[in-house]
Amino acid sequence: MRITPTAEFMLEPVFFPVEPNKDAGTSRDNIGFGQSVGPGLDTRHGTILTLEDISVSFDGFKALNALNLYIGVGELRCIIGPNGAGKTTLMDVITGKTRPSHGKAWFGETLDLTQMSEVQIAQAGIGRKFQKPTVFEALSVFENLELAQKTDKSVWASLRARLTGEQKDRITEVLETIRLTTSVNRPAGLLSHGQKQFLEIGMLLMQDPQLLLLDEPVAGMTDAETEFTAELFKSLAGKHSLMVVEHDMGFVGSIADHVTVLHQGSVLAEGSLEQVQDNERVIEVYLGR
Ligand SMILES: Nc1ncnc2c1ncn2[C@@H]1O[C@H](COP(=O)(O)OP(=O)(O)OP(=O)(O)O)[C@@H](O)[C@H]1O
Ligand SMILES: [Mg+2]
Repeated sequence: MRITPTAEFMLEPVFFPVEPNKDAGTSRDNIGFGQSVGPGLDTRHGTILTLEDISVSFDGFKALNALNLYIGVGELRCIIGPNGAGKTTLMDVITGKTRPSHGKAWFGETLDLTQMSEVQIAQAGIGRKFQKPTVFEALSVFENLELAQKTDKSVWASLRARLTGEQKDRITEVLETIRLTTSVNRPAGLLSHGQKQFLEIGMLLMQDPQLLLLDEPVAGMTDAETEFTAELFKSLAGKHSLMVVEHDMGFVGSIADHVTVLHQGSVLAEGSLEQVQDNERVIEVYLGR
């Protein structure tokens, strides 16, 4: 049995200290110790994610270089860029996997991501989907969703605990959203690659994240699955904010109203897909001219 529980299933709710940021704007100065994370993210200025002047160095090589990026509440943003541009590193910084050597990273107005652990960031409402699906293969679709439900208990305690009606309703709703209602009792290991991807997205949705990060979600999917993913993401935008990294331009064109092009760790261009595709510098980077 392949069990890959993530740490957030096992931890108690956290209250973590965040240092007041002395040089941030006034709205960000009110961060105190013992701040509770969870619902009630402060997005009063309409921005869910603020990255300013972010740099990441690997042995002197700058994977991210003075990057600035702002994601609006409810936005569906696509990030494109050639291999090695820094797209995955960007997600690593947002989720606390990689610490920037320089720069600011805010979730909402008050949560300083550079001071939070990966688990705290996940609990604060940032969900991430990696390219390879990481579902519990031996468990049913239902059990996978059940496990992923926001809970303070350990994996096994959550499986034994009786679900409330509201929790069951939420699972039913998510099953419909990811179109796996008829596979509810199937072991996840028997699902197709695309269905496993949808299940993993469903598992993220069970935690009700405000910001979803999706790295190359349609890689390896059939055309029909890719089409459904586009529909799904469009339906999730608004209620959630999404940041989608993809190389498939057809897919990007079908979902994005706003695209950011990364190159050598910095933002090269931003705008509609048409706008960035017409941008001379973007054309140079993609065509190697
Ligand atoms: N842990 C690491 N140590 C050293 N170099 C790294 C590390 N992680 C990433 N890099 C380098 O940083 C650069 C950016 O990598 P990243 O994976 O973020 O690119 P990407 O835009 O996601 O590319 P792709 O489209 O191929 O997925 C690459 O040159 C990569 O080799
Ligand atoms: Mg990558």
